[in-house]
Amino acid sequence: MLILDVLSPLLLLSIVLPGYGCWAADIPEDTTAEFSVRLYHQLQVAGGQENIIFSPLSVAVAMGMVELGARGASLGEIRQAVGFSHLLPGVEFSLLQNLTAGLLDDGARYVIRLANSLFLQEGITFNPEFLHLMRKYFRADVETVDFSESAAVADQINTWVENHTESQIRELLSAEDFSSVTRLTLVNAIYFRGSWKNQFRPENTRTFSFSRDDGSEVQTLMMYQQGDFSYGEFSDGSQEAGGVYQVLEMPYEGEDMSMMIVLPRQEVPLATLEPIIKASLLEEWANNVKRQKVEVYLPRFKVEQKIDLRSTLQELGIKKIFTSDADLSAMTDGKDLYIGKAVQKAYLEVTEEGAEGAVGSGMIALTRTLVLYPQVMADHPFFFVIRSRKTGSILFMGRVMTPEVIGLNDNDFDSM
Ligand SMILES: *[C@@H]1O[C@H](CO)[C@@H](O)[C@H](O)[C@H]1NC(C)=O
Ligand SMILES: *[C@@H]1O[C@H](CO)[C@@H](O)[C@H](O)[C@H]1NC(C)=O
Repeated sequence: MLILDVLSPLLLLSIVLPGYGCWAADIPEDTTAEFSVRLYHQLQVAGGQENIIFSPLSVAVAMGMVELGARGASLGEIRQAVGFSHLLPGVEFSLLQNLTAGLLDDGARYVIRLANSLFLQEGITFNPEFLHLMRKYFRADVETVDFSESAAVADQINTWVENHTESQIRELLSAEDFSSVTRLTLVNAIYFRGSWKNQFRPENTRTFSFSRDDGSEVQTLMMYQQGDFSYGEFSDGSQEAGGVYQVLEMPYEGEDMSMMIVLPRQEVPLATLEPIIKASLLEEWANNVKRQKVEVYLPRFKVEQKIDLRSTLQELGIKKIFTSDADLSAMTDGKDLYIGKAVQKAYLEVTEEGAEGAVGSGMIALTRTLVLYPQVMADHPFFFVIRSRKTGSILFMGRVMTPEVIGLNDNDFDSM
C-alpha cells in the first residue's frame, strides 16, 4: 500500500517575462515544436474565450531540468512527450544548453535574462552528479532552504523571481505552496525585451473598435504602419471563402526573432482556425510568406497568464512524475520524490516600440477605397508566435481574444 503522506512533493515553476529579441548563430534546430503546439491546444481547450500566453521554450527547459533527475518510465514519458525520443539518450541536455546559450549570446540590441534556480531542503542528501549536471547544462543556482518555514521560503523564492524578471512578476508563490514534505523547488525565469525592426509611430496609434468572437466590441488602442513585411494568404483546405486567412511576420531588431500573427477573416471566429495549427504548419507559414508592402493595424496588447502545468502536462502524457509512481531517483537515493506542483507565469506586452510609451493623438489617412497593398486589420481575435527563424524555437505562443481595453474616459480622440 502506498502512503502518499511520506512522499515528497517537488515544486516546479517557470516564470516568463518577455519583450522581443533575437538569436545568435550556430545553434541547433529545436525539436520541440510539436510539443509546443500540443501545449497550446490543451490551453485552448481549457481556455474558453480568454487570452493565452505561455513560453514553450521555458516549459521545455523546466522539463529538461526534471528529466535530469528522472529514470525509467518517468524519464521515457518526458522524452517522448517533449520530442526528444529520436535523440540518443542525454543529447537533449546539450541541445537545450546550446539553444539557451544561443539566446544569451550577444545582447546589444535586446535584453534577455534566463535564470534557473534550484531550492533544496536542508538536511536531505541530493546526488552530487545531479547537482553537477544541473549547473553544467542549466547554469542553475543552488540554494538550501527549510520548506517547513513556508512563509519565509515563499518570500525568498518570490524575491528571487522578482529579481530575475525586472520586478514584473511579484508574489508568485504563497506559504500554502510549501510544507514540511516539500523537498525541492525548481524555478525557471525568463526576461526578454526588445524592439520591432520597424517600429510603430505612436502618433499613428488611435482608438479603434475590436470585435470579440462573442460579437461584443471593446475599444482598444490600434497601432498602425505601412511597411515591408513578410506576408501570405493561406487556405484552411476548405473551399469556403472564410477558409482563407492571413499570416504576417514582423521581425524584431536583428531579424533572427520574429512575431508571426495569424488572422482569420473578420467573420470567422479564431476557434475555427485553431484546430488546424500544427508544428509543420508553422514551418509552412515561415517558408511561404513573401516580402511585400503591407498595411498593418495591430492593437497594443498586454497578456498575462498563470498556468497549472501539472494538469496540462498530464494531458500530454507526462504523468508519472506527478504520482507516487515517479522515479526521480537520479536526484536522491530512493524513490519517494514526486512533483507536487508545476506552474508557469508568462506576461507579454506589445507596444509601438517594445516599451510602454505615451500615446499621442493623430490622424491616419485612411484610403479604404484605394487600397494598394494587403491590409492586415487585427481588429478581431488572432493567434501569434514569437519564434526564432533559425532554430524554430518558440519563445512565446498565444492568442489575443481581448486586447488592452481602454475606457471611454481615456479616449480623447475620435474613433475611426
Ligand atoms: C552543442 O554545442 C557543442 C559545442 O559547440 C557541440 O559539441 C554539441 O554537439 C552541441 N550539441 C547539440 C545537441 O547540438
Ligand atoms: C538580485 O540580483 C542582483 C544582481 O543580479 C544580486 O546582486 C542580488 O544579490 C540579488 N538579490 C537577491 C535577493 O537575490
